Amino acid sequence: MRLKDKVAIVTGGGAGIGEAIALKYAQEGARVVVAEINPERGKSSVQAIRKQGGEAVFAPTDVSSEDQVKAMVKTAVEQYGRIDILVNNAAILLTPGETRAHEITNEVWDRTINTNLRGYWLCSKYVIPYMLAQGKGSIILIASRTGMRGFTGLAAYSASKGGVFALMRSMAADYARNGIHVNAIVPGTMDTPMNAAEFSDPEARNKYIPRIPAGRLGIGSDIAGMATFLATDEAFFCIGGVYLVDGGADLG
Ligand SMILES: NC(=O)c1ccc[n+]([C@@H]2O[C@H](COP(=O)([O-])OP(=O)(O)OC[C@H]3O[C@@H](n4cnc5c(N)ncnc54)[C@H](O)[C@@H]3O)[C@@H](O)[C@H]2O)c1
Repeated sequence: MRLKDKVAIVTGGGAGIGEAIALKYAQEGARVVVAEINPERGKSSVQAIRKQGGEAVFAPTDVSSEDQVKAMVKTAVEQYGRIDILVNNAAILLTPGETRAHEITNEVWDRTINTNLRGYWLCSKYVIPYMLAQGKGSIILIASRTGMRGFTGLAAYSASKGGVFALMRSMAADYARNGIHVNAIVPGTMDTPMNAAEFSDPEARNKYIPRIPAGRLGIGSDIAGMATFLATDEAFFCIGGVYLVDGGADLG
């Protein structure tokens, strides 16, 4: 077991990539806090972990709310005594709503930035003091190619993900000497609830697949392997890295 005795918080751990990471971490021996805004999803993820013999607790959390993040971190420490791993994963892509910059409403912009960027910062802010006290920790930020290059009609989401890279690099530089290693994972196009509406249309799905050298959309477990490696002590020398796990989507 590669994460034995470690304690992990996975935000958005009730579905998609976050759920797959939470399940994998528990299989690898970690005790997992599933920090999730949707109670049904959060509870079902915890149930699935317990069913496979793992240990987990559901912490109802909206990552954009400072009070809820504080309460979630308190739950983790009260329940398990320490925090070794934080996976900042919870994010939203508002459809309808996402569009070009001059058409985006203030509400869509604010909700997107507050969840996708402020949420990653808030969770880091309240977890880092425990990692500093331990002299050790791993923080993983789930980013996106939309934050690296231009995609049409996704101004708020792309801006939030661009910010995630900057936050990741800044935290990586600030805390490396304290034993906290911070990295980003960049998934490709995923078959998760975030894209469910779009990919319920077989035509849309078939349009994407030929662009992916791996020949299929990504699934949560594709990302969980890299998220596990970055959480182990073997990854100590990985600092400020951007790890593409996208089925080759960046190739020509
Ligand atoms: N789906 C993709 O194609 C894709 C591609 C690149 C990057 N990503 C990134 O990967 C991460 C996970 O994406 P996914 O496809 O699994 O998403 P998803 O929508 O399938 O799952 C996200 C989970 O986060 C929860 N959540 C939403 N808002 C929250 C909040 N405020 N507080 C707590 N939990 C909240 C949701 O309830 C859901 O369970 C996100 O950061 C996303 O931006 C996704």
